[in-house]
Amino acid sequence: MFMPKSPMDTLHFSCIQIAIALLLFTHANSTTEGSTSALHPNDAIPSCVAGEKSALLAFRAGLSDPANLLSSWKGDDCCRWKGVYCSNRTGHVVKLDLRGDESRQMLAGNISSSLLGLDHLRYLDLSCNSFDKIQMPEFMGSLHQLRYLDLSASLFIGRIPPQLGNLSNLWYLNLGSDE
Ligand SMILES: *[C@@H]1O[C@H](CO)[C@@H](O)[C@H](O)[C@H]1NC(C)=O
Ligand SMILES: *[C@@H]1O[C@H](CO)[C@@H](O)[C@H](O)[C@H]1NC(C)=O
Ligand SMILES: *[C@@H]1O[C@H](CO)[C@@H](O)[C@H](O)[C@H]1NC(C)=O
Repeated sequence: MFMPKSPMDTLHFSCIQIAIALLLFTHANSTTEGSTSALHPNDAIPSCVAGEKSALLAFRAGLSDPANLLSSWKGDDCCRWKGVYCSNRTGHVVKLDLRGDESRQMLAGNISSSLLGLDHLRYLDLSCNSFDKIQMPEFMGSLHQLRYLDLSASLFIGRIPPQLGNLSNLWYLNLGSDE
């Protein structure tokens, strides 16, 4: 024999249902945001692809940045971070311009192969920085989309990796030193 449910029970039950529905809804929302990259409605700056944001953060973690040049590298939208440029059409990071500046404020440390996560990267400028204990990374030869690569005047040591010869789309390459 069934007892009729008290109003309190019904209320409790429907609250849980709503909470579950909300949870599923927000989950579905964030999943679609992760796989596509919507444009901001009011301007043409695209928002960041989640995997590319992680790649940038891993790259930053290897750097030493005493002058805090990358202080804008926080928050969800990596397309708004200093030196990061995304395609207006696809939202992918296509350009990374971290050229050191004249005031001698520079990046140093290690260049993480997490950059390979930026597989739409066409333009990379790390020139005029202070990578003075490391070699030019061999993995850069696998950034197949690169059109523009500037690693000049950044105090790399050792030989130029032959893997850079694999960058068959390059039209600009500068590995010069300023000394
Ligand atoms: C993308 O949009 C930004 C902001 O409106 C603009 O400055 C930039 O030139 C655009 N880039 C391209 C490739 O159209
Ligand atoms: C760069 O890598 C070397 C060797 O793995 C490590 O000793 C050093 O702490 C790293 N530098 C930074 C800024 O993470
Ligand atoms: C890249 O270049 C190296 C050395 O020149 C070569 O041994 C290697 O097979 C190349 N890799 C690819 C994926 O083309």
